[in-house]
Amino acid sequence: MDLVVVTGATGRQGGAVARHLLEDGRRVRALTRNPASPAARRLADLGAEVVKGDMADPDSLRPVFRGAHGVFSVQNSMISGLDGEVHQGRTVGDVAAEAGVAHVVYGSAGTGQPGTGVGSWESKLRVQAHLEALGLPLTVLRPMAFMELMTDKDFYPPVSAWHLMPKLVGEDRPLPWLTAQDLGAIAARAFAEPERFVGANIALASDIRTLAECRALWAERFGRRPRGFPMPVWLFEKFVGKDLTTMWRWLHDNPTDVDPARTYEILPGARTVRQWLAERRA
Ligand SMILES: NC(=O)c1ccc[n+]([C@@H]2O[C@H](COP(=O)([O-])OP(=O)(O)OC[C@H]3O[C@@H](n4cnc5c(N)ncnc54)[C@H](OP(=O)(O)O)[C@@H]3O)[C@@H](O)[C@H]2O)c1
Repeated sequence: MDLVVVTGATGRQGGAVARHLLEDGRRVRALTRNPASPAARRLADLGAEVVKGDMADPDSLRPVFRGAHGVFSVQNSMISGLDGEVHQGRTVGDVAAEAGVAHVVYGSAGTGQPGTGVGSWESKLRVQAHLEALGLPLTVLRPMAFMELMTDKDFYPPVSAWHLMPKLVGEDRPLPWLTAQDLGAIAARAFAEPERFVGANIALASDIRTLAECRALWAERFGRRPRGFPMPVWLFEKFVGKDLTTMWRWLHDNPTDVDPARTYEILPGARTVRQWLAERRA
């Protein structure tokens, strides 16, 4: 079966992509900086070939990409900074092109249009432009907000989803939501059907909900309102930087226009917010 290299495989998106590819019976080569980590070991237990490499270092990627049919590419500016994200995304593209891979699926985000001023959306357009210039057979997947923001401790939901997002985005702005789990299933679909997905640039959402609606759905599921933790914007920015607060202010000032029909066409079982919360424990 054709080999797919998955970057970010120990993380949220890449992990979901790797698991769905393995379920489809694909060979998966999972990239990590630390093959001994618990997340890397779990992937190996599922049947992935776990390999060490650094997306910033092309020499470390060359042996990893050798013989690969496809590459799932995702970077995280929260870890590497915006310039680091762009450098890594371009480097993955360069080495994928050198290796002659037949399909790159890029985990992007945002509106797909320049000029928002949101650093981690603009950085992805810079990476995408480079991948296109290389002539790679490319699929771009563009989620906007992961439902994990409400449930995953790494995102500090009391501070972000239940305090600062409502404050900066507003309680009543409709937002396009998707789970990273479903992003993984959609990426696996893309690798399975290249004739349908190469050249596609897809805004993804499986539910459009305001934060007030999400709060009500959370309360319906767990029998109490989600706890907020008030933190001043300046303090959050001191810890996390200004990218997220810039994004949330942009979402307050600008409508998003994502039609979930496209996502359901690809993945009929994509989860709504209610379904996602039903699967979670308090
Ligand atoms: N949060 C949202 O609502 C949302 C919505 C849409 C899009 N996004 C986008 O999602 C992206 C982050 O994805 P995620 O949540 O899946 O990330 P994540 O869970 O933080 O995972 C990051 C992964 O990157 C790997 N990594 C980091 N630096 C690396 C390097 N130098 N070389 C090789 N691997 C490296 C890590 O692997 P090791 O540590 O094992 O090396 C890890 O597997 C961001 O670009 C963000 O803009 C987020």
